[in-house]
Amino acid sequence: MTDGFGRTVDYMRISITDRCNLRCSYCMPKEPCWLPKEELLKREEILEICRCGEKLGIRKIKVTGGEPLMRGDCAELIREIKSLPGIEKVTLTTNGVLLAKKAQELYEAGIDGVNVSLDTLDRNTYQEMTGFDRLSQVLEGLEVMGNLPVPLKTNTVLMPGVNEEAWKELALLAKKQSIDVRFIEKMPLGEEKGAEGISNLRLLEDMQKLFGKAAKDSRVHGNGPAVYYRFPGFQGSIGFISAIHGKFCADCNRLRLTAEGLVKPCLCYQDSISLKEAVREENREEIGKLLKKAIEEKPLSHCFEHTEQVTEQRDMWKIGG
Ligand code: GTP
Ligand code: 5AD
Ligand code: SF4
Repeated sequence: MTDGFGRTVDYMRISITDRCNLRCSYCMPKEPCWLPKEELLKREEILEICRCGEKLGIRKIKVTGGEPLMRGDCAELIREIKSLPGIEKVTLTTNGVLLAKKAQELYEAGIDGVNVSLDTLDRNTYQEMTGFDRLSQVLEGLEVMGNLPVPLKTNTVLMPGVNEEAWKELALLAKKQSIDVRFIEKMPLGEEKGAEGISNLRLLEDMQKLFGKAAKDSRVHGNGPAVYYRFPGFQGSIGFISAIHGKFCADCNRLRLTAEGLVKPCLCYQDSISLKEAVREENREEIGKLLKKAIEEKPLSHCFEHTEQVTEQRDMWKIGG
């Protein structure tokens, strides 16, 4: 289905839980207040929403969180969504802490791609940024998943004075193996709304000084807004998600569903439409109507470059990234 600006919306990002086993400072407070369990959508409710989305032309689903692998039924849900005839791709974005244990199960469920959040390769910095000494678990997860035939990417948010030099080591992962290493400009959401991030424009320049001239890689790597480059001698690509310095809204193709059943037409604004009641009443027609409304109401673009205009008060963990 197309939105009011002629953009085809065929990608739905679904947060299946707000729970997380890390506390990345740009994403959630140190002591988050979780949603009551009964507020979270159940597996069959999420599946029903996917079914209604499929009827409206949703073809690709991203399963995210919080940390989606905190839900024991994550792989089962992926398997079920994959079995819907109109759904072409189901991918997962995870912090990787539980990935080593779940990789095989995800592969068997038919997962089409896995993105792992990884902000540093330094154990102390990792602990400082996430609140937990869990880097070795994530690296093990990357290794186990990397041995399976599933496309793998990493996501890094660089923060001045915290991990701003981490790109030098992280980018080398793409030199050694066929993995896409991506850098996301910090978006002004939640408690750390005001904190500065690092510009991807500057980062690309710094990378070229170190690794040589990059060539634009225009192959399709996923469903998201990342722009990819190849550096000489690298096996994987380097991706940039430039929410602040490279507006990608003209190509926006997605809706977001939160763990408690709110549909968000855009990341930047508070506006959302609740599917909860329609889902609990098993009213398929109403779910379809509400999804359609969310697509029709998609704004033309985000306003992240004007922090004062961002009306979304919630952090990323409550939205799903
Ligand atoms: P693939 O390209 O399919 O791998 O997916 P993706 O890049 O959409 O997935 P991922 O979940 O790894 O998201 C990476 C980052 O991109 C997250 O921080 C998202 O918030 C950000 N992102 C994805 N879609 C949008 C969007 O519509 N607007 C903004 N501002 N950021 C987005
Ligand atoms: N700005 C940019 N990216 C963020 N993420 C979480 N919070 C923010 C933010 N404020 C990223 C995580 C994860 C992805 C799904 O969202 O690093 O990789
Ligand atoms: Fe958890 Fe991901 Fe948020 Fe970090 S960025 S706290 S891993 S949901």
